[in-house]
Amino acid sequence: MPAPRSVLTLVPRPSEAALRPGHFTLDADTALRIGAGAEPAAELLRTLLSPATGLSLRPSPEGQLALALDPGLGGLGEEGYELTVDPHAVLLRAAHPTGLLRGVQTIRQLLPPQALSEAPERGTPWLLPCADITDVPRHPWRGAMLDVARHFQPVSYLRRYVDVLALHKINVFHLHLTDDQGWRMPVAARPKLTEIGGHRAESQIGPAGSGTYDGVPHGGAYTRAELAALVRYAAARGVTVMPEIEMPGHVRAALAAYPSLGNHPDRALDVWTRWGVCDTVLGVHDEVLDFCRTVLEEVMDVFPSPYIHLGGEECPTAEWTHSSAARERAVAEGLPNPEALHGWFLGQIGDFLVRRGRRPVGWAETGAELPLDFTVMTWRDQSHTLTAARRGHPVINAYHRATYLDHAQSDAPHEPPAQPGTVVDLRAVHAHDPVPEDADAEAAGRVLGTQTQLWTEFVTTPAHIEYLTYPRLCALADRGWSGATDWADFRARLDGHTARLDALGIRRHP
Ligand code: ACM
Repeated sequence: MPAPRSVLTLVPRPSEAALRPGHFTLDADTALRIGAGAEPAAELLRTLLSPATGLSLRPSPEGQLALALDPGLGGLGEEGYELTVDPHAVLLRAAHPTGLLRGVQTIRQLLPPQALSEAPERGTPWLLPCADITDVPRHPWRGAMLDVARHFQPVSYLRRYVDVLALHKINVFHLHLTDDQGWRMPVAARPKLTEIGGHRAESQIGPAGSGTYDGVPHGGAYTRAELAALVRYAAARGVTVMPEIEMPGHVRAALAAYPSLGNHPDRALDVWTRWGVCDTVLGVHDEVLDFCRTVLEEVMDVFPSPYIHLGGEECPTAEWTHSSAARERAVAEGLPNPEALHGWFLGQIGDFLVRRGRRPVGWAETGAELPLDFTVMTWRDQSHTLTAARRGHPVINAYHRATYLDHAQSDAPHEPPAQPGTVVDLRAVHAHDPVPEDADAEAAGRVLGTQTQLWTEFVTTPAHIEYLTYPRLCALADRGWSGATDWADFRARLDGHTARLDALGIRRHP
Protein backbone atom coordinates (compact mmCIF):
# COMPACT_ATOMS: atom_id res chain seq x y z
CA MET A 1 0.00 0.00 0.00
CA PRO A 2 1.44 3.41 -0.86
CA ALA A 3 2.21 5.68 2.06
CA PRO A 4 -0.69 7.93 3.07
CA ARG A 5 2.03 10.60 3.23
CA SER A 6 1.15 11.87 -0.23
CA VAL A 7 -2.29 13.18 0.73
CA LEU A 8 -0.86 14.70 3.87
CA THR A 9 1.72 16.58 1.83
CA LEU A 10 -0.71 18.24 -0.59
CA VAL A 11 -0.03 21.99 -0.91
CA PRO A 12 -2.38 23.74 -0.69
CA ARG A 13 -4.23 21.51 1.73
CA PRO A 14 -7.62 20.34 0.42
CA SER A 15 -10.72 21.33 2.38
CA GLU A 16 -11.58 17.65 2.97
CA ALA A 17 -9.46 14.61 2.22
CA ALA A 18 -9.92 11.06 3.45
CA LEU A 19 -7.50 8.28 2.56
CA ARG A 20 -8.63 4.74 1.98
CA PRO A 21 -6.51 1.61 1.67
CA GLY A 22 -5.26 0.67 -1.77
CA HIS A 23 -4.16 2.51 -4.85
CA PHE A 24 -4.87 3.07 -8.52
CA THR A 25 -2.00 2.52 -10.93
CA LEU A 26 -1.57 4.75 -13.96
CA ASP A 27 0.07 2.75 -16.72
CA ALA A 28 0.09 2.22 -20.47
CA ASP A 29 -3.45 0.76 -20.27
CA THR A 30 -4.92 3.78 -18.51
CA ALA A 31 -7.32 5.70 -20.72
CA LEU A 32 -9.24 8.90 -20.10
CA ARG A 33 -13.02 9.06 -20.17
CA ILE A 34 -13.56 12.70 -21.08
CA GLY A 35 -16.98 14.24 -20.51
CA ALA A 36 -18.32 17.14 -22.55
CA GLY A 37 -16.44 20.29 -21.57
CA ALA A 38 -13.66 18.37 -19.81
CA GLU A 39 -11.35 18.34 -22.84
CA PRO A 40 -9.12 21.21 -21.60
CA ALA A 41 -8.54 19.41 -18.27
CA ALA A 42 -7.73 16.15 -20.09
CA GLU A 43 -5.29 18.02 -22.32
CA LEU A 44 -3.63 19.61 -19.30
CA LEU A 45 -3.34 16.27 -17.50
CA ARG A 46 -1.64 14.76 -20.53
CA THR A 47 0.65 17.75 -21.02
CA LEU A 48 1.74 17.71 -17.39
CA LEU A 49 2.24 13.96 -17.02
CA SER A 50 3.70 12.99 -20.35
CA PRO A 51 7.34 14.22 -19.96
CA ALA A 52 8.03 12.11 -16.86
CA THR A 53 5.65 9.18 -17.35
CA GLY A 54 5.60 8.85 -21.13
CA LEU A 55 1.96 7.71 -20.77
CA SER A 56 -0.31 8.55 -23.68
CA LEU A 57 -3.54 8.67 -21.59
CA ARG A 58 -5.60 8.12 -24.72
CA PRO A 59 -9.30 8.98 -24.73
CA SER A 60 -11.76 6.07 -24.52
CA PRO A 61 -15.45 5.78 -23.56
CA GLU A 62 -14.33 2.96 -21.23
CA GLY A 63 -11.46 4.96 -19.72
CA GLN A 64 -10.71 4.24 -16.05
CA LEU A 65 -9.78 7.87 -15.30
CA ALA A 66 -12.89 10.00 -15.81
CA LEU A 67 -13.03 13.77 -16.01
CA ALA A 68 -16.53 15.25 -16.00
CA LEU A 69 -18.43 18.46 -15.60
CA ASP A 70 -21.39 18.06 -13.26
CA PRO A 71 -23.78 21.02 -12.93
CA GLY A 72 -25.07 19.37 -9.74
CA LEU A 73 -21.80 20.39 -8.05
CA GLY A 74 -22.55 24.11 -8.40
CA GLY A 75 -22.08 24.48 -4.65
CA LEU A 76 -18.34 23.96 -5.20
CA GLY A 77 -18.17 27.26 -7.11
CA GLU A 78 -15.91 28.16 -10.02
CA GLU A 79 -12.81 26.38 -8.73
CA GLY A 80 -13.99 23.58 -6.44
CA TYR A 81 -13.80 19.90 -7.44
CA GLU A 82 -14.35 16.39 -6.14
CA LEU A 83 -11.83 13.64 -6.67
CA THR A 84 -12.37 9.97 -5.91
CA VAL A 85 -9.60 7.45 -6.35
CA ASP A 86 -10.56 3.75 -6.20
CA PRO A 87 -8.36 0.76 -7.06
CA HIS A 88 -9.93 0.47 -10.52
CA ALA A 89 -11.20 3.97 -11.26
CA VAL A 90 -10.49 7.63 -10.77
CA LEU A 91 -13.26 10.20 -10.99
CA LEU A 92 -12.63 13.94 -11.12
CA ARG A 93 -15.76 16.12 -11.20
CA ALA A 94 -16.47 19.83 -10.98
CA ALA A 95 -19.23 22.27 -11.88
CA HIS A 96 -16.87 24.43 -13.97
CA PRO A 97 -13.91 23.69 -16.23
CA THR A 98 -11.61 25.64 -13.89
CA GLY A 99 -12.45 23.25 -11.05
CA LEU A 100 -11.26 20.36 -13.19
CA LEU A 101 -7.97 22.19 -13.83
CA ARG A 102 -7.47 22.52 -10.06
CA GLY A 103 -8.23 18.81 -9.62
CA VAL A 104 -5.66 17.92 -12.27
CA GLN A 105 -2.99 19.59 -10.13
CA THR A 106 -4.14 17.52 -7.16
CA ILE A 107 -3.84 14.30 -9.17
CA ARG A 108 -0.35 15.41 -10.09
CA GLN A 109 0.56 16.00 -6.45
CA LEU A 110 -0.90 12.63 -5.39
CA LEU A 111 1.50 10.81 -7.72
CA PRO A 112 5.12 10.21 -6.70
CA PRO A 113 7.14 13.46 -6.94
CA GLN A 114 9.03 12.10 -9.97
CA ALA A 115 5.81 12.69 -11.94
CA LEU A 116 6.73 16.40 -11.96
CA SER A 117 10.09 15.85 -13.57
CA GLU A 118 10.67 17.26 -17.02
CA ALA A 119 12.87 14.27 -17.87
CA PRO A 120 11.65 10.70 -18.41
CA GLU A 121 11.32 8.77 -15.10
CA ARG A 122 10.48 5.41 -16.58
CA GLY A 123 11.30 3.16 -13.57
CA THR A 124 8.66 4.65 -11.27
CA PRO A 125 5.29 2.93 -10.65
CA TRP A 126 2.67 5.66 -10.99
CA LEU A 127 0.50 4.96 -7.95
CA LEU A 128 -2.37 7.16 -6.78
CA PRO A 129 -3.49 6.48 -3.19
CA CYS A 130 -7.21 5.72 -2.84
CA ALA A 131 -8.88 8.82 -1.47
CA ASP A 132 -11.99 10.99 -1.39
CA ILE A 133 -11.26 14.67 -1.77
CA THR A 134 -13.68 17.59 -1.81
CA ASP A 135 -11.85 20.83 -2.29
CA VAL A 136 -13.06 24.44 -2.42
CA PRO A 137 -10.91 27.56 -2.06
CA ARG A 138 -11.45 29.94 0.83
CA HIS A 139 -10.53 33.03 -1.20
CA PRO A 140 -11.28 33.69 -4.87
CA TRP A 141 -8.03 35.69 -5.36
CA ARG A 142 -4.72 33.95 -4.81
CA GLY A 143 -2.16 35.85 -6.82
CA ALA A 144 1.51 36.39 -7.52
CA MET A 145 2.97 39.67 -8.79
CA LEU A 146 6.20 39.68 -10.77
CA ASP A 147 7.94 42.94 -11.65
CA VAL A 148 9.42 42.57 -15.14
CA ALA A 149 9.96 46.34 -15.44
CA ARG A 150 12.95 46.64 -13.10
CA HIS A 151 14.50 43.51 -14.58
CA PHE A 152 13.14 41.98 -17.74
CA GLN A 153 12.55 38.23 -17.99
CA PRO A 154 11.97 36.42 -21.28
CA VAL A 155 8.52 35.04 -21.93
CA SER A 156 9.88 31.47 -21.83
CA TYR A 157 10.60 32.02 -18.14
CA LEU A 158 7.16 33.54 -17.57
CA ARG A 159 5.63 30.31 -18.85
CA ARG A 160 7.60 28.29 -16.32
CA TYR A 161 6.62 30.78 -13.63
CA VAL A 162 2.94 30.23 -14.53
CA ASP A 163 3.43 26.44 -14.46
CA VAL A 164 4.58 26.55 -10.87
CA LEU A 165 1.84 29.01 -9.85
CA ALA A 166 -0.74 26.60 -11.26
CA LEU A 167 0.76 23.71 -9.30
CA HIS A 168 -0.10 25.72 -6.17
CA LYS A 169 -3.60 26.64 -7.39
CA ILE A 170 -2.59 30.31 -7.63
CA ASN A 171 -5.11 31.84 -10.02
CA VAL A 172 -3.84 35.36 -10.81
CA PHE A 173 -0.47 36.18 -12.37
CA HIS A 174 -0.08 39.92 -11.87
CA LEU A 175 2.44 41.16 -14.43
CA HIS A 176 4.01 44.52 -13.52
CA LEU A 177 4.84 45.67 -17.05
CA THR A 178 5.83 49.32 -16.71
CA ASP A 179 7.77 51.45 -14.27
CA ASP A 180 10.33 54.26 -14.09
CA GLN A 181 13.12 51.88 -15.10
CA GLY A 182 11.51 50.15 -18.07
CA TRP A 183 8.42 49.76 -20.26
CA ARG A 184 7.89 46.17 -21.45
CA MET A 185 4.41 46.27 -23.05
CA PRO A 186 4.42 46.85 -26.82
CA VAL A 187 1.96 49.54 -27.95
CA ALA A 188 1.59 49.80 -31.72
CA ALA A 189 0.29 53.38 -31.56
CA ARG A 190 3.25 54.47 -29.40
CA PRO A 191 6.27 52.43 -30.52
CA LYS A 192 8.83 54.52 -28.63
CA LEU A 193 7.44 53.20 -25.34
CA THR A 194 9.44 50.03 -25.87
CA GLU A 195 12.02 51.30 -28.41
CA ILE A 196 13.20 53.99 -25.99
CA GLY A 197 11.39 53.20 -22.75
CA GLY A 198 12.43 49.54 -22.86
CA HIS A 199 16.14 50.31 -22.32
CA ARG A 200 18.12 52.00 -19.59
CA ALA A 201 21.79 52.91 -19.60
CA GLU A 202 22.68 51.20 -16.32
CA SER A 203 21.27 50.23 -12.93
CA GLN A 204 21.87 51.41 -9.41
CA ILE A 205 23.86 49.00 -7.28
CA GLY A 206 22.34 48.42 -3.86
CA PRO A 207 19.39 50.21 -2.33
CA ALA A 208 17.90 53.57 -3.37
CA GLY A 209 20.32 56.40 -2.73
CA SER A 210 23.47 54.26 -2.93
CA GLY A 211 25.11 56.54 -5.50
CA THR A 212 26.82 53.64 -7.33
CA TYR A 213 25.87 52.21 -10.71
CA ASP A 214 26.82 49.06 -12.61
CA GLY A 215 27.52 50.65 -16.00
CA VAL A 216 25.64 47.79 -17.70
CA PRO A 217 22.76 48.63 -20.08
CA HIS A 218 19.55 46.72 -19.38
CA GLY A 219 16.56 46.29 -21.65
CA GLY A 220 13.87 44.14 -23.12
CA ALA A 221 10.26 44.14 -24.23
CA TYR A 222 7.68 41.54 -25.16
CA THR A 223 6.00 41.26 -28.50
CA ARG A 224 2.23 41.34 -28.64
CA ALA A 225 2.25 37.75 -29.96
CA GLU A 226 4.37 36.59 -26.99
CA LEU A 227 2.01 38.15 -24.48
CA ALA A 228 -1.09 36.83 -26.23
CA ALA A 229 0.43 33.34 -26.24
CA LEU A 230 1.31 33.69 -22.54
CA VAL A 231 -2.30 34.60 -21.78
CA ARG A 232 -3.50 31.45 -23.58
CA TYR A 233 -0.86 29.30 -21.89
CA ALA A 234 -1.90 30.59 -18.47
CA ALA A 235 -5.61 30.19 -19.24
CA ALA A 236 -5.04 26.54 -20.12
CA ARG A 237 -3.74 26.19 -16.54
CA GLY A 238 -6.58 28.18 -14.97
CA VAL A 239 -4.42 31.25 -14.37
CA THR A 240 -5.52 34.78 -15.36
CA VAL A 241 -2.75 37.18 -16.37
CA MET A 242 -3.57 40.62 -14.96
CA PRO A 243 -1.48 43.38 -16.57
CA GLU A 244 -0.33 46.43 -14.62
CA ILE A 245 0.34 49.73 -16.40
CA GLU A 246 1.50 52.29 -13.84
CA MET A 247 0.06 55.82 -13.75
CA PRO A 248 0.24 58.71 -12.99
CA GLY A 249 3.56 58.07 -11.20
CA HIS A 250 6.23 55.40 -11.88
CA VAL A 251 6.21 56.58 -15.53
CA ARG A 252 9.74 57.84 -16.12
CA ALA A 253 10.32 55.30 -18.93
CA ALA A 254 7.20 56.58 -20.75
CA LEU A 255 8.34 60.19 -20.25
CA ALA A 256 11.76 59.35 -21.70
CA ALA A 257 9.94 58.07 -24.80
CA TYR A 258 7.36 60.86 -25.04
CA PRO A 259 8.40 64.00 -23.10
CA SER A 260 5.18 65.78 -24.10
CA LEU A 261 3.30 63.52 -21.66
CA GLY A 262 5.06 65.18 -18.74
CA ASN A 263 4.72 68.46 -16.91
CA HIS A 264 7.73 69.96 -18.73
CA PRO A 265 7.15 69.00 -22.39
CA ASP A 266 10.57 70.24 -23.54
CA ARG A 267 12.56 68.37 -20.92
CA ALA A 268 14.58 65.34 -22.08
CA LEU A 269 14.58 62.58 -19.47
CA ASP A 270 16.42 59.28 -19.36
CA VAL A 271 14.83 55.96 -18.48
CA TRP A 272 15.51 55.97 -14.76
CA THR A 273 18.66 54.21 -13.60
CA ARG A 274 17.95 54.67 -9.89
CA TRP A 275 15.64 52.90 -7.44
CA GLY A 276 13.13 54.62 -5.21
CA VAL A 277 10.28 57.03 -5.84
CA CYS A 278 10.80 59.27 -8.90
CA ASP A 279 9.33 62.78 -8.74
CA THR A 280 8.60 63.06 -12.48
CA VAL A 281 4.97 62.14 -13.16
CA LEU A 282 2.44 62.37 -15.97
CA GLY A 283 0.90 65.71 -16.82
CA VAL A 284 -2.86 66.10 -16.55
CA HIS A 285 -3.59 67.62 -19.99
CA ASP A 286 -5.96 65.96 -22.47
CA GLU A 287 -3.12 64.44 -24.52
CA VAL A 288 -2.09 62.40 -21.49
CA LEU A 289 -5.57 61.02 -20.84
CA ASP A 290 -5.83 60.14 -24.55
CA PHE A 291 -2.45 58.44 -24.34
CA CYS A 292 -3.53 56.34 -21.36
CA ARG A 293 -6.74 55.30 -23.08
CA THR A 294 -4.88 54.37 -26.27
CA VAL A 295 -2.39 52.25 -24.31
CA LEU A 296 -5.16 50.58 -22.35
CA GLU A 297 -7.14 49.79 -25.52
CA GLU A 298 -4.17 47.76 -26.70
CA VAL A 299 -3.66 46.25 -23.26
CA MET A 300 -7.30 45.11 -23.19
CA ASP A 301 -6.91 43.61 -26.67
CA VAL A 302 -4.08 41.40 -25.43
CA PHE A 303 -5.29 40.68 -21.88
CA PRO A 304 -8.89 39.47 -21.43
CA SER A 305 -8.45 39.72 -17.63
CA PRO A 306 -11.53 41.31 -16.02
CA TYR A 307 -9.11 43.26 -13.80
CA ILE A 308 -6.61 45.81 -15.16
CA HIS A 309 -4.10 47.26 -12.68
CA LEU A 310 -3.35 50.99 -12.98
CA GLY A 311 -0.66 51.17 -10.28
CA GLY A 312 -1.44 54.55 -8.76
CA GLU A 313 0.93 54.54 -5.77
CA GLU A 314 3.93 56.69 -4.86
CA CYS A 315 2.95 59.65 -7.01
CA PRO A 316 4.64 62.84 -5.80
CA THR A 317 2.44 65.84 -6.60
CA ALA A 318 5.12 68.58 -6.54
CA GLU A 319 5.24 68.83 -10.34
CA TRP A 320 1.49 69.55 -10.43
CA THR A 321 1.76 72.11 -7.66
CA HIS A 322 4.45 73.94 -9.64
CA SER A 323 2.73 73.68 -13.03
CA SER A 324 0.30 76.43 -14.02
CA ALA A 325 -1.37 74.03 -16.49
CA ALA A 326 -1.96 71.45 -13.76
CA ARG A 327 -3.23 74.08 -11.31
CA GLU A 328 -5.64 75.34 -13.96
CA ARG A 329 -6.84 71.81 -14.58
CA ALA A 330 -7.49 71.35 -10.86
CA VAL A 331 -9.57 74.54 -10.81
CA ALA A 332 -11.44 73.61 -13.98
CA GLU A 333 -12.34 70.22 -12.47
CA GLY A 334 -13.50 71.83 -9.24
CA LEU A 335 -10.76 70.18 -7.18
CA PRO A 336 -9.68 71.72 -3.88
CA ASN A 337 -5.94 71.56 -4.71
CA PRO A 338 -3.45 70.08 -7.22
CA GLU A 339 -2.88 67.06 -4.94
CA ALA A 340 -6.47 66.03 -5.67
CA LEU A 341 -5.50 65.54 -9.32
CA HIS A 342 -4.22 62.09 -8.31
CA GLY A 343 -7.68 60.76 -7.48
CA TRP A 344 -9.21 62.70 -10.36
CA PHE A 345 -6.73 61.20 -12.85
CA LEU A 346 -7.30 57.64 -11.68
CA GLY A 347 -11.05 58.29 -11.66
CA GLN A 348 -10.95 59.35 -15.32
CA ILE A 349 -9.02 56.29 -16.41
CA GLY A 350 -10.87 53.96 -14.07
CA ASP A 351 -14.20 55.12 -15.57
CA PHE A 352 -12.83 54.42 -19.02
CA LEU A 353 -12.05 50.82 -18.01
CA VAL A 354 -15.45 50.40 -16.36
CA ARG A 355 -17.18 51.59 -19.54
CA ARG A 356 -15.22 48.90 -21.38
CA GLY A 357 -16.48 46.28 -18.94
CA ARG A 358 -13.22 45.95 -16.97
CA ARG A 359 -12.41 46.56 -13.32
CA PRO A 360 -9.63 49.00 -12.39
CA VAL A 361 -7.21 47.96 -9.64
CA GLY A 362 -4.89 50.28 -7.72
CA TRP A 363 -2.27 50.16 -4.98
CA ALA A 364 -3.63 51.85 -1.89
CA GLU A 365 -1.68 54.52 -0.04
CA THR A 366 -4.16 54.57 2.83
CA GLY A 367 -7.14 52.54 1.62
CA ALA A 368 -9.29 55.68 1.63
CA GLU A 369 -8.03 57.60 -1.38
CA LEU A 370 -8.93 55.64 -4.51
CA PRO A 371 -12.16 56.07 -6.51
CA LEU A 372 -14.86 53.73 -5.23
CA ASP A 373 -15.05 51.59 -8.35
CA PHE A 374 -11.43 50.51 -7.82
CA THR A 375 -10.43 47.16 -6.44
CA VAL A 376 -7.71 47.99 -3.95
CA MET A 377 -4.41 46.32 -3.14
CA THR A 378 -3.36 47.25 0.38
CA TRP A 379 0.35 46.94 1.04
CA ARG A 380 1.68 49.58 3.41
CA ASP A 381 -0.18 48.88 6.63
CA GLN A 382 -2.40 46.15 8.03
CA SER A 383 -5.09 48.68 8.95
CA HIS A 384 -5.52 49.78 5.32
CA THR A 385 -7.27 46.53 4.39
CA LEU A 386 -10.08 47.22 6.81
CA THR A 387 -10.20 50.91 5.85
CA ALA A 388 -10.65 50.03 2.19
CA ALA A 389 -13.13 47.20 2.83
CA ARG A 390 -15.28 49.39 5.11
CA ARG A 391 -15.28 52.05 2.42
CA GLY A 392 -16.81 49.51 0.05
CA HIS A 393 -13.81 48.48 -2.06
CA PRO A 394 -13.12 44.89 -2.98
CA VAL A 395 -9.65 44.37 -1.45
CA ILE A 396 -6.64 42.20 -2.08
CA ASN A 397 -4.43 42.05 0.97
CA ALA A 398 -0.80 42.52 -0.13
CA TYR A 399 0.60 43.59 3.23
CA HIS A 400 4.32 44.00 2.69
CA ARG A 401 5.48 42.37 5.94
CA ALA A 402 3.76 39.14 4.93
CA THR A 403 3.70 39.08 1.11
CA TYR A 404 6.73 41.03 -0.22
CA LEU A 405 9.19 38.45 -1.48
CA ASP A 406 11.85 41.08 -2.25
CA HIS A 407 12.45 41.19 1.50
CA ALA A 408 14.95 38.64 2.81
CA GLN A 409 13.53 35.43 4.23
CA SER A 410 15.99 35.32 7.11
CA ASP A 411 18.56 37.61 8.71
CA ALA A 412 21.38 35.15 7.95
CA PRO A 413 24.45 36.86 6.47
CA HIS A 414 24.43 34.59 3.39
CA GLU A 415 21.06 35.93 2.14
CA PRO A 416 21.44 37.80 -1.16
CA PRO A 417 20.91 41.60 -1.25
CA ALA A 418 17.25 42.43 -0.54
CA GLN A 419 15.02 45.35 0.39
CA PRO A 420 16.46 46.62 3.64
CA GLY A 421 14.43 46.42 6.82
CA THR A 422 11.83 43.79 7.47
CA VAL A 423 12.57 40.07 7.18
CA VAL A 424 9.60 38.18 5.70
CA ASP A 425 10.08 34.60 6.81
CA LEU A 426 8.06 31.56 5.81
CA ARG A 427 6.16 31.60 9.06
CA ALA A 428 5.12 35.24 8.63
CA VAL A 429 3.71 34.42 5.19
CA HIS A 430 1.77 31.44 6.48
CA ALA A 431 0.54 33.28 9.58
CA HIS A 432 -0.92 36.10 7.49
CA ASP A 433 -4.70 36.05 7.40
CA PRO A 434 -5.87 38.24 4.49
CA VAL A 435 -9.07 39.03 6.42
CA PRO A 436 -8.44 41.54 9.22
CA GLU A 437 -9.25 40.19 12.68
CA ASP A 438 -11.71 42.95 13.51
CA ALA A 439 -13.59 42.90 10.18
CA ASP A 440 -17.36 42.46 10.41
CA ALA A 441 -18.99 40.02 7.98
CA GLU A 442 -19.65 42.69 5.36
CA ALA A 443 -16.07 43.99 5.33
CA ALA A 444 -14.65 40.46 5.50
CA GLY A 445 -16.74 39.55 2.46
CA ARG A 446 -15.01 42.28 0.47
CA VAL A 447 -11.56 40.77 1.00
CA LEU A 448 -11.02 38.83 -2.21
CA GLY A 449 -7.77 37.27 -1.08
CA THR A 450 -4.05 37.80 -1.14
CA GLN A 451 -0.97 37.60 -3.31
CA THR A 452 2.83 37.60 -3.22
CA GLN A 453 4.81 40.57 -4.57
CA LEU A 454 8.23 40.23 -6.17
CA TRP A 455 9.77 43.62 -6.97
CA THR A 456 12.99 43.03 -8.84
CA GLU A 457 15.36 45.94 -8.20
CA PHE A 458 17.87 43.42 -6.81
CA VAL A 459 16.65 40.36 -8.68
CA THR A 460 18.06 39.76 -12.13
CA THR A 461 17.91 36.01 -12.79
CA PRO A 462 15.28 33.24 -12.77
CA ALA A 463 17.40 31.40 -10.17
CA HIS A 464 17.14 34.38 -7.83
CA ILE A 465 13.41 34.73 -8.52
CA GLU A 466 12.88 31.11 -7.55
CA TYR A 467 15.07 31.39 -4.45
CA LEU A 468 12.91 34.25 -3.22
CA THR A 469 9.58 32.76 -4.31
CA TYR A 470 9.86 29.20 -3.04
CA PRO A 471 8.86 28.01 -0.57
CA ARG A 472 7.25 31.28 0.57
CA LEU A 473 4.66 31.16 -2.21
CA CYS A 474 3.68 27.66 -1.01
CA ALA A 475 2.77 29.20 2.35
CA LEU A 476 0.67 31.93 0.78
CA ALA A 477 -1.07 29.44 -1.52
CA ASP A 478 -1.86 27.18 1.44
CA ARG A 479 -3.30 29.97 3.53
CA GLY A 480 -5.17 31.56 0.63
CA TRP A 481 -6.72 28.34 -0.67
CA SER A 482 -7.48 26.40 2.49
CA GLY A 483 -7.35 29.00 5.23
CA ALA A 484 -5.22 26.43 7.09
CA THR A 485 -3.70 28.05 10.17
CA ASP A 486 -1.79 25.08 11.61
CA TRP A 487 1.89 25.88 11.16
CA ALA A 488 3.14 22.43 12.22
CA ASP A 489 0.79 20.73 9.77
CA PHE A 490 1.95 23.05 6.97
CA ARG A 491 5.60 22.39 7.79
CA ALA A 492 5.03 18.64 7.71
CA ARG A 493 3.28 18.86 4.34
CA LEU A 494 5.94 21.20 3.00
CA ASP A 495 8.66 18.67 3.83
CA GLY A 496 6.98 16.27 1.41
CA HIS A 497 6.13 19.01 -1.08
CA THR A 498 9.75 20.12 -1.45
CA ALA A 499 10.40 16.81 -3.25
CA ARG A 500 8.00 18.09 -5.93
CA LEU A 501 9.77 21.46 -6.14
CA ASP A 502 13.05 19.58 -6.46
CA ALA A 503 11.64 17.32 -9.20
CA LEU A 504 10.72 20.51 -11.08
CA GLY A 505 14.28 21.78 -10.68
CA ILE A 506 13.18 24.84 -8.68
CA ARG A 507 16.12 26.57 -7.08
CA ARG A 508 14.32 27.18 -3.81
CA HIS A 509 15.48 28.63 -0.52
CA PRO A 510 16.64 25.77 1.74
C1 ACM B 1 4.60 49.20 -3.98
O1 ACM B 1 5.27 48.53 -3.19
N1 ACM B 1 5.16 50.17 -4.69
C2 ACM B 1 3.17 48.96 -4.16
